[in-house]
Amino acid sequence: MNVFQNSDYRIKDNVKIHFDGNIWKYEPELTIKIKEDIPVYTKENVHLLKALTIYLPFWDGEQKIAFFYKYDNQVIGFFNICSHIKVPLDLDDNRFFNVLGNIVCKVHGAQFCPKTGMVLSGPARSPLYKLIVQFNNSNHTLVIKGFYHESFFNSSSGDNTSL
Ligand code: FES
Repeated sequence: MNVFQNSDYRIKDNVKIHFDGNIWKYEPELTIKIKEDIPVYTKENVHLLKALTIYLPFWDGEQKIAFFYKYDNQVIGFFNICSHIKVPLDLDDNRFFNVLGNIVCKVHGAQFCPKTGMVLSGPARSPLYKLIVQFNNSNHTLVIKGFYHESFFNSSSGDNTSL
């Protein structure tokens, strides 16, 4: 049986993805027990922070790297795909932030908000793919319901301030 996997986490391929108009939803939602601590975003030396990375199913049927960290006691996650030309943001080192604390693409320098994934400076024009994730502290488990379509934040329904 094929699995979505990296060295630490495996997700069986019975996961389906469907688009409901705004959100790509996993069915069933993904439940991943995390072995290590999730890195905490702090302004100090955040450019050195290494995020937790996990391969997850993407809408194209492939597995893509997603990265996670804690921000204001919430777990935040994005796919490691720059919205400019759809390449990884990092240098394969799991470091996604610049000294200002923004997510930065190492290819052409676009910057994104570390909380919402919204574009702060170009050349990217669309936000990152933000995962809809909850973290259960008691059993150290990530529950991932899906992820936002990149146009979600550009639509009138997209209130990014509450995400
Ligand atoms: S590929 Fe990310 S800014 Fe161009």
